[in-house]
Amino acid sequence: MAKVGIFFGTDTGNSRKVAKTIHKQLGDALCDKPVNIQKASIDDLLAYDVLIIGTPTYGEGELPGLTAGTSTESWEEFMPNLAGADFSGKTIALYGLGDQEGYPGNFVDALGMLYDAFADCGANFVGFTGTEGYTFTASKAVLDDQFVGLVLDEDNQKELSDTRLQDWLQQIESAWA
Ligand SMILES: Cc1cc2nc3c(=O)[nH]c(=O)nc-3n(C[C@H](O)[C@H](O)[C@H](O)COP(=O)(O)O)c2cc1C
Repeated sequence: MAKVGIFFGTDTGNSRKVAKTIHKQLGDALCDKPVNIQKASIDDLLAYDVLIIGTPTYGEGELPGLTAGTSTESWEEFMPNLAGADFSGKTIALYGLGDQEGYPGNFVDALGMLYDAFADCGANFVGFTGTEGYTFTASKAVLDDQFVGLVLDEDNQKELSDTRLQDWLQQIESAWA
């Protein structure tokens, strides 16, 4: 199987930590080292047929980036690169980090925004997950009663993250197999 590319945005490092765990878990034979999206070009992403893509949510339901107040450029600044890009034939598994207690009305919205943007570019997705076990009022990351990827809440449910991640990795690995 072709190598898997891992790309993430982050401000305080949680999403980088998840990316590193995924890389360690899947191993060098299967996936390349995770890359912060602020250092990536669209061709870097298009080099892979299978991608794992992660983001936190900042502002009030925004992608990380200078408008949302993150300390460096991130997904917000990368998004214009997706205009006209062709991801048909690519398989993407998304993960998102958020804070369901602090932002119950915008929980992991950026995950949903990445889903919409890559779906518009023709990508296929794996790794949808159930919403049970989370408490929130609204999220752009919910489609047909499911999250469009893995959702981790390091602010309120840190103790659940490892199991959620392991279960999700098994799920996406069997979807690729
Ligand atoms: C200023 C600020 C705004 C945030 N806005 C949201 C939000 O709208 N929705 C959400 O689910 N989480 C929100 N969060 C929570 C972060 O997404 C969460 O802490 C995440 O784990 C940070 O990931 P990172 O360490 O990769 O940057 C916000 C956090 C901060 C500090």
